[in-house]
Amino acid sequence: MSNDLILAASQVRLKAYVPYSNFPVGAALRTVSGAIYVGCNVENVAYPEGTCAEAGAIAAMCAGGEYEITEVAVIAGSDRPVPPCGGCRQKLAEFAKGQVPVTLLATNGAQERTMVADLLPSAFDPDHLTSGTQDPKA
Ligand code: THU
Repeated sequence: MSNDLILAASQVRLKAYVPYSNFPVGAALRTVSGAIYVGCNVENVAYPEGTCAEAGAIAAMCAGGEYEITEVAVIAGSDRPVPPCGGCRQKLAEFAKGQVPVTLLATNGAQERTMVADLLPSAFDPDHLTSGTQDPKA
């Protein structure tokens, strides 16, 4: 994992809007073009409306016209490296192949390396939509 991606995740974490959890998270994605897109968590007084750092980074990537992730870094201030939530694992899997490396970080320097396929084994994928029968009575 290159330091530029980790640095980008650390820097955007400082922009997180987290008045309810006080748990800022930063995420950075590299894409096939080599560009880096970043996102932070943005909370809301209506709690379920808050968005995760990973979701913000994915939105920035799509807004930049890119759709293929090659590397991911996520950082938070917990003791242990922060794992993406279940929903974000599915969101990452939409745009990243299984072998894409994911570095989970804590601000204390702890790091864990994993990959998209290990974060979301047996993922629901587009094949499920198009194979078999979609007749609800079948
Ligand atoms: N959060 C993220 O942004 N990404 C993660 O990977 C884990 C959790 C956010 C959601 C919420 O704003 C705060 O962390 C506490 O759950």
